[in-house]
Amino acid sequence: MQPIGSVLPVVLDSVSQVIWVVDHQGNLLYTNPAGVAALGYDSADELVGRSSHATLHPERPDGTPFPASECPMLRPARTGQPAHGNDEWFKRRDGSFFPASWWAAPVDLPAGRGVVYSFFDATEERELQRAHRERDAARIRADESRAAQRRIMQSIESVRRQTARDLHDGAQQRMVSLLIGLRLARDLLPVTASDAAELLDQSVADAQTAIHELRELAYGVYPSVLMTKGLLAAVESLAARCAVPTTVAGECSMRLPAEVESNAYFVIAEALTNAVKHARAAHIRVSIAAADDCLRIEVADDGIGGAPEDAAGNGLTGLMDRVAAFEGVLVIDSPPGRGTSVRAEIPVPH
Ligand SMILES: Nc1ncnc2c1ncn2[C@@H]1O[C@H](COP(=O)(O)OP(=O)(O)O)[C@@H](O)[C@H]1O
Ligand SMILES: [Mg+2]
Repeated sequence: MQPIGSVLPVVLDSVSQVIWVVDHQGNLLYTNPAGVAALGYDSADELVGRSSHATLHPERPDGTPFPASECPMLRPARTGQPAHGNDEWFKRRDGSFFPASWWAAPVDLPAGRGVVYSFFDATEERELQRAHRERDAARIRADESRAAQRRIMQSIESVRRQTARDLHDGAQQRMVSLLIGLRLARDLLPVTASDAAELLDQSVADAQTAIHELRELAYGVYPSVLMTKGLLAAVESLAARCAVPTTVAGECSMRLPAEVESNAYFVIAEALTNAVKHARAAHIRVSIAAADDCLRIEVADDGIGGAPEDAAGNGLTGLMDRVAAFEGVLVIDSPPGRGTSVRAEIPVPH
């Protein structure tokens, strides 16, 4: 077996960490090739014999002097204790600085206490740490903004539900009472009061129109059928009112969480409105498929296609935001001349 002493020079030559030995006066006795390379020199001869402190960092990176008395790397020579640091800056031969992590161990040399240093250029490590920190921060920001988006959507939805309920139970009921009152008054009028009768007939018609408009308004805000009977029934009712023939295919017998149902409903409603408004379609097909952990919906028309991929309009952007807030995905496929398909996958929380 080879004695370890003859193997050591080979080890020191081949390791990527710098090994740097300093004598009792702080001058360099030895550096391995990694030390020469890290500091940008050509050979160890250029370094050996020089003051270690004055070579590594005669000044700080900002140009201010760095007195030896303040250098933590010189402490082990005085205290006899090992030391370690991660935030030192060393100067290369060309004057540039690099961040270094270092370890120091005191060593007894014939002339007195020296120090064995080991260090490496921490630029890449710092870069990696910075990238990790930025990635973590970006992830946190994205999570926070998604949570905020979700809260906004939830509160919009609850305001919609409440408004629809108020319209239905409040204004609409009052209008119905008014209509009944008007009809009764009309019936009580003597046949001679034809002017008043005409006026009342007109008022009855106005009240009927107002009731119809209120009902439509409440339906647009939040259809009661969505609340009472769920997604499939609400979409079927939407399809029945659609100006373009629309078929609904789906199995969604179970009730899903309200936020998932209303999210899917408003996506389908906007996609249907778009198909009627922009597509010049002859037919629209809506599919709904509820799996265990995800709801898949699609609205496909056979119209002109060509909807922008970047979802430039408010409607499509709103759909993307709405679905993204619930961690879903929305894909718009709209090749010119070949119709438009809007597909969304919305996770179903358990
Ligand atoms: N089904 C569709 N077929 C053809 N073009 C569409 C369709 N849906 C959307 N578009 C196009 O994409 C644009 C953006 O749609 P949208 O964001 O809903 O805004 P808006 O409906 O208010 O115009 C529309 O103006 C239209 O040009
Ligand atoms: Mg639109």
